Amino acid sequence: MTADPMILSRELSGATSSAAVLEAYADSVMNTFGLPKRVFVRGEGCYLWDAEGRRYLDLLSGLAVNALGHAHPTVLSAVTGQIATVGHVSNFFATPAQVALAERLSSMTGADEARVFFTNSGTEANEAAFKISRMTARSKIISTEGAFHGRSMGALALTHNPKYRMPFQPLPSEVIFVPYGDAEALASVVDETVAAVVLEPIQGENGVVVPPEGYLRSAREICDQHGALLWMDEVQTGIGRCGSWLVHVDEGVTADIVTIAKGLGNGFPVGACIATGQASRLLGPGSHGSTFGGNPVAAIAGLAVIAVIERDGLLDQAKALGDHLTAAVMRLVHPLITGVRGRGLLQAVILAQPIAPAVVDAALAAGFVINAPRPEVLRLAPALIVSAAELDSFVGVLPALLDQVAEEST
Ligand SMILES: Cc1ncc(COP(=O)(O)O)c(C=O)c1O
Repeated sequence: MTADPMILSRELSGATSSAAVLEAYADSVMNTFGLPKRVFVRGEGCYLWDAEGRRYLDLLSGLAVNALGHAHPTVLSAVTGQIATVGHVSNFFATPAQVALAERLSSMTGADEARVFFTNSGTEANEAAFKISRMTARSKIISTEGAFHGRSMGALALTHNPKYRMPFQPLPSEVIFVPYGDAEALASVVDETVAAVVLEPIQGENGVVVPPEGYLRSAREICDQHGALLWMDEVQTGIGRCGSWLVHVDEGVTADIVTIAKGLGNGFPVGACIATGQASRLLGPGSHGSTFGGNPVAAIAGLAVIAVIERDGLLDQAKALGDHLTAAVMRLVHPLITGVRGRGLLQAVILAQPIAPAVVDAALAAGFVINAPRPEVLRLAPALIVSAAELDSFVGVLPALLDQVAEEST
């Protein structure tokens, strides 16, 4: 078979300007995200280009996904090499890439025994974890206020925001929400009827909320006292984003279930539910499945990301750059900035007023991609390959952006 490069340009024909693409978007894509703010046509390293050729510093990485930046050569050659060799075989069969990634992820948990169920997203990883917890003889799950675990019916049942939940009631039941970061509140609800406690080590969507020191270790102890599973959702925090493979392991905790996705594939959809010890044996043939999960192209993308993070020392670099960013923002001593929180390269700038969405728009107009998970919170989750100078370039314009928005809103 020979390649026909023209066939794709015919498929993509028509909408080439941003305005034309956005007009076609509104008529052809469901309105679940609102109208996109830009049309991006190319990415390289930490930069994106829109359809008009304008360059942007990407400090969001496709929402904590592109850990190695855009078009990373190692990921590119791994993915194209794999799809040119064998791209998909179904889960009736195994591939070396799938098994190698399962071994690599299992070793990150710190447990002697661990097994992986591969998925295409964080939500699906959490669905698998939900089903594992239901394979215990218990059904109650403890989640936290402000938690975000995805939007399928199962993952939504664990997600706290009433705006996301209310239209879809009834959701799978027996989920109890307790205040995040409060070990006493957790201890007061966990008993012998609880199947699992699900926690983000840092709440990303809730505005990069970091729990008090020792919270995750307390959660482990509480689960152990009552035989409940500890399920860590590292979909946003894991695979280098916070300067470690897994935040909870960095804090000396071994979980029963770990879910990851986002940063693992550098943009190639791949997620995983990793269970340790006895929990790794709870799902059996027929109890769960996925057509694409464990696909060798997704698996090789994950292996390439892990190999580059390790080779280039990006875990330590993420920690150092996170500290650099925090210090630089705090040095601004701006009246609209009340603090910076986060770990590694998952950071939030906290504002004194609920103007974050307008600051995001002003930043975009100035050539920087960031987002606002809450009205008073700016989130930065750049690629782990970002430079201190690139971070400084944003910090340099931040006071002017804040002043501009504050002035416009008075
Ligand atoms: C902690 C956490 N869990 C789960 C999800 C859902 O992941 P996905 O969007 O890949 O389904 C997210 C997405 O933001 C997340 O931050």
